[in-house]
Amino acid sequence: MSRNLKLGIFGFGVVGQGLYHVLEETKGIKAEILKICVKNRSKNRALPMKYFTFDKDEVLDNPEVDVVLELIDDPKAAFEIVSAALKKGKAVVTANKKMVADHMTELCELQQLYNAPLLYEGSCCASIPIIRNLEEYYDNDLLSAVEGIFNGSTNFILTKVFAEQKSFDEALAEAQQLGYAESDPRLDVEGFDPKYKLCIILTHAFGLFAEPEEVVNYGIQNISDFDIKIARERGYKIKLVAKSRKVDDKVMAMVMPQFVSPKSQLYKVEREFNGVIVEGAFSEHQFFMGKGAGGYPTGSAVLSDISALTYAYKYEYKKTRQDSGLQLTRDFQIKIYLRFDHTVGIDRDRFDKIYEEYKALDNQYIIGEINFDRLTSSEWFRHPKVNIILLEPEED
Ligand SMILES: NC(=O)c1ccc[n+]([C@@H]2O[C@H](COP(=O)([O-])OP(=O)(O)OC[C@H]3O[C@@H](n4cnc5c(N)ncnc54)[C@H](OP(=O)(O)O)[C@@H]3O)[C@@H](O)[C@H]2O)c1
Repeated sequence: MSRNLKLGIFGFGVVGQGLYHVLEETKGIKAEILKICVKNRSKNRALPMKYFTFDKDEVLDNPEVDVVLELIDDPKAAFEIVSAALKKGKAVVTANKKMVADHMTELCELQQLYNAPLLYEGSCCASIPIIRNLEEYYDNDLLSAVEGIFNGSTNFILTKVFAEQKSFDEALAEAQQLGYAESDPRLDVEGFDPKYKLCIILTHAFGLFAEPEEVVNYGIQNISDFDIKIARERGYKIKLVAKSRKVDDKVMAMVMPQFVSPKSQLYKVEREFNGVIVEGAFSEHQFFMGKGAGGYPTGSAVLSDISALTYAYKYEYKKTRQDSGLQLTRDFQIKIYLRFDHTVGIDRDRFDKIYEEYKALDNQYIIGEINFDRLTSSEWFRHPKVNIILLEPEED
């Protein structure tokens, strides 16, 4: 039986305002905003001040509020708000991937203990309904991989750099101005944001509780004009790709830039769009594409969660109870392009195979196959004069 929900909102920025407009346009949904809690007292607001409060308890202690929407940009304060709301038995919707990824275990326990649901579709790839699909549709152990472009702002930056020859900084400023970038752009550019999403996906795809520190993220900040030239010459684009895949009875997971050829579905994912490829033993490849950032796409995912709450939907976390014993591994082979300059000593014997080597005064590179653990434990892995880009094994 559907019911009329009373909403208390935290945050009225890009996503909060996006949700407000989406909600205004959706006449069929039975939900009403009671209060919006924000932080800055001197900001002009797009709605009458009677809607706003600066006191979180005005929302959390209001017995009329049955759904709390947590849409702020501060993960620490967000966890305090979300855990307080769940402890009061309120349903919660959040778009905060860092907060969810950092506290997945505690958040599952709180939901169970207080019998209060927490939904977070908007936290992963904004408008793409990936979490509910993994949770409900791919509810079996035949799922073998989930990978894709999970970050709208870096994809926007890479699109501008590739298609419009913009500089990296120009493209980042444009992404920020359009509301695609996180308040702290390092979260996007250094690959943390897609890693948080990948950790959430690992729980719903493979039943794994992965701490973000366990998953390697390598960002796009070291990509140089030389790397872009190499990509162009070979007909590739560079995309920041999050990957998870079963390897025997373990799961590999990482975020890294990748050379993507026109054969890949990810090649045509441009600007702020995200793309997710789900691979199953018998279903083979399925591809989801949609806007991965911005107020309206994220607002529409939040609205979909609100709608799900009207029929008492909650995540069952079924795969975490399947006792599959899956664990993360770094023991797998990858093929990489490693670019460096003469000041960096690269120990070539870390590679299992070297396919190609190039040496010039400014730039050198190796294309080869290497064990992921041996790569990430090397001294030069995080060297500022080094850049590493993944190649798909079949793309020589
Ligand atoms: N932007 C996107 O495309 C996107 C996409 C998916 C998910 N997300 C996630 O959605 C969340 C919100 O992002 P956003 O882009 O909307 O951020 P934003 O535009 O920077 O807005 C943040 C809002 O949070 C409020 N706020 C911050 N700390 C607060 C506190 N302690 N108590 C109450 N309000 C507080 C701010 O208040 P003031 O208005 O007073 O400053 C502001 O209204 C983040 O977790 C982000 O990761 C964003």
